[in-house]
Amino acid sequence: MKIIFASAHDVDADSWIKPLQALVPQADIQQWSDDGSAIGAELAVVWNPPRDIFLRETGLQAVFNLGAGVDALFRLEGLNDDVPIVRLEDAGMSVQMAEYATYALLRASRQFDRYEGLQKQGIWEPLPDIQRGKWPVGVMGMGLMGARVAQTLASLDYPVAGWSRSGKDLPGIECFAGPAQLPAFLARTRVLINTLPLTSETHGILCRDTLGRLLPEAHLINVGRGDHLVEEDLLALLDSGHIHGATLDVFNQEPLPQGHAFWTHPRITVTPHVAAASLRETSIAQVAANINCYLRGEPLTGVVVRGRGY
Ligand code: NAP
Ligand code: GLV
Repeated sequence: MKIIFASAHDVDADSWIKPLQALVPQADIQQWSDDGSAIGAELAVVWNPPRDIFLRETGLQAVFNLGAGVDALFRLEGLNDDVPIVRLEDAGMSVQMAEYATYALLRASRQFDRYEGLQKQGIWEPLPDIQRGKWPVGVMGMGLMGARVAQTLASLDYPVAGWSRSGKDLPGIECFAGPAQLPAFLARTRVLINTLPLTSETHGILCRDTLGRLLPEAHLINVGRGDHLVEEDLLALLDSGHIHGATLDVFNQEPLPQGHAFWTHPRITVTPHVAAASLRETSIAQVAANINCYLRGEPLTGVVVRGRGY
């Protein structure tokens, strides 16, 4: 059985292929080559694969994505509707996401950004104590990433709410569900953390209308996908003062183009899509376990529901 490996995670593909091969010894795993020939693969293990992978490897029976979000795969031509797409389930990402969100929240709420400025001026000036009640956090998407983020911030005694498609019941977290409850969720939120998957329903969901409903002096933390955000709407709301700051890990175009307004905006923090990385060892272990299930004819875990897009 042949497996094609095509990943932009790491230039050193061998460092992924070798340990995967060791865990799936019966497979012949080959690295994608740009020479145009198909290897006749039955399975593909991919992250941001070349645009023509599904046009070239036409016999694929399943595709294993080395990341949580699968939106990029649906943009490629030739992906058959009946081929299962399998995503990473946590695999060490949710703890990183919780760290990232905690850092971004504390930087704003504990005013570490202001202390950095004061240090540069040599000024010793304790700022007013934090009042957690003034920093209600709202997490969009309450899946593996969002639930971990929400629980982590709730453990620090911030008022936390979550919004998802279906209702959730998590202790200490106020849960909202569906489009009908979105306005109420936004109206009680000052720090909005987006962990949604990118689908036709969530594309552009962070726009003038939704962001404008947040509490005054809001802060946006976007770790979902760049296309959730209407970038010019964020800039307008920062200009108007309704949004005080934003911490952005994902962008409409990645890498963020030189000269983009976000690079130099005084109230935007930019990171290069690193909020939660796919860790090699845990990712390979999870994919290998799933491939071995496939080989034994057992059900796979993490299969994307095509109709939902995640
Ligand atoms: P997940 O477990 O599938 O969770 C997705 C959550 O979003 C679920 O709670 C789901 O609701 C909710 N949702 C989906 N569509 C919705 C809609 N239309 N309205 C309201 N809620 C909706 O996914 P995950 O593993 O947490 O990953 C989420 C996303 O994080 C990924 O797709 C990826 O884009 C992003 N991500 C980014 C990085 C990074 O480094 N920046 C790393 C990893 C992941 P239900 O619970 O009702 O299904
Ligand atoms: C990263 O962005 C992922 O979806 O895993």
